[in-house]
Amino acid sequence: MSEKFKALVINQEGDNFTREVKSLEKNFLKHGNVLIKVDYSSLNFKDALILKNGARLVKEFPHIPGVDFSGKVVESDSPNFKEGDEIICTGMRVGEAFYGGFSQYAKVKSDFMIKKPESISTRQAMVLGTAGFTALQCSFTTKQTREILLLGEKVNDVIVTGASGGVGSIAVMILSKLGCNVTAVTGKESNFEYLKSLGANNVIKTSELDSEARPLDKGLYDGAVDTVGGNVLSKVLSHIKQSGIVAACGNASSIKLNTTVMPFIIRGVKLWGIDSVNTSIKRREFIWGEAAKLIDFDKLEKSIKEISLNELIDVYPNMLAGKTSGRYIINVNK
Ligand SMILES: NC(=O)c1ccc[n+]([C@@H]2O[C@H](COP(=O)([O-])OP(=O)(O)OC[C@H]3O[C@@H](n4cnc5c(N)ncnc54)[C@H](OP(=O)(O)O)[C@@H]3O)[C@@H](O)[C@H]2O)c1
Repeated sequence: MSEKFKALVINQEGDNFTREVKSLEKNFLKHGNVLIKVDYSSLNFKDALILKNGARLVKEFPHIPGVDFSGKVVESDSPNFKEGDEIICTGMRVGEAFYGGFSQYAKVKSDFMIKKPESISTRQAMVLGTAGFTALQCSFTTKQTREILLLGEKVNDVIVTGASGGVGSIAVMILSKLGCNVTAVTGKESNFEYLKSLGANNVIKTSELDSEARPLDKGLYDGAVDTVGGNVLSKVLSHIKQSGIVAACGNASSIKLNTTVMPFIIRGVKLWGIDSVNTSIKRREFIWGEAAKLIDFDKLEKSIKEISLNELIDVYPNMLAGKTSGRYIINVNK
């Protein structure tokens, strides 16, 4: 690699928090045993929180954020990766405890990443990123965990909250592709048609669910993907039919959950937490290997904004303010 490269660096000195695209020396990269030339990274809600103030996840400054990246191996000390291998790295505390993907080069431990399946490109891997990876995990949990693992009834009617966000929009697409009747929940009326184009059969406004829930309400859905938490999740739980699974991954509205035991003990509802950060390598390989079958990248492309490292600094506050839709991918070489 050339001696210098470009990266977005955050720093904290006293009360002064800064974010800046800088030119760095190769020896700045101090973690890991595999050096990767990054093609793309992506912007997730967690990245936006880290770009704001480190989100108490970053303990050492200066730091390179970016929880996701895809690219090509340049140097490797690991027998599992060789020069030229195309890889995907998401989660594993990369971008938090370790330097991440908002950079033209990244260096990580070999057991943080997988070889990219041939069925998708490095760009498509970041069109999905952690959001898509999480959407795949959530959708498999809601649908296949009940049908295949628990040998349960078929999952037909499902609800997805925060539906125009990164995780939500991709979950709508996957569950539709898996044959479900999908209700998408969004705060943005302007996104109703977009969500229908991704496969939603019905779209409802978040405000319809954002009130105190009854312990049990009319059973409407066989399963759910929740990215929002708070009142919305309580309400969703009260509307789940017998033995439904709610895959909960997010807190875009609130970390709080005010519910009762009734959905769990009367209807056997399962609240299934999703953590995409620490997923095993074996499961990562399986999930990424399924992506091409379930994702219509041409459709998704309409909601993709490809931005540079510099543009990222302007965009992240909009995500925190709930003003973004779809996915932002970062072309670190732009
Ligand atoms: N557990 C995990 O491993 C994991 C992995 C990835 C993400 N997450 C979490 O999942 C959530 C979604 O992530 P993302 O990347 O999809 O973020 P995102 O693109 O910002 O989407 C979040 C969506 O939630 C909705 N929303 C935002 N603020 C809201 C509010 N105050 N009340 C109700 N709805 C609100 C909006 O959807 P509408 O515009 O449709 O209303 C927004 O588009 C985040 O909390 C993130 O931290 C967790």
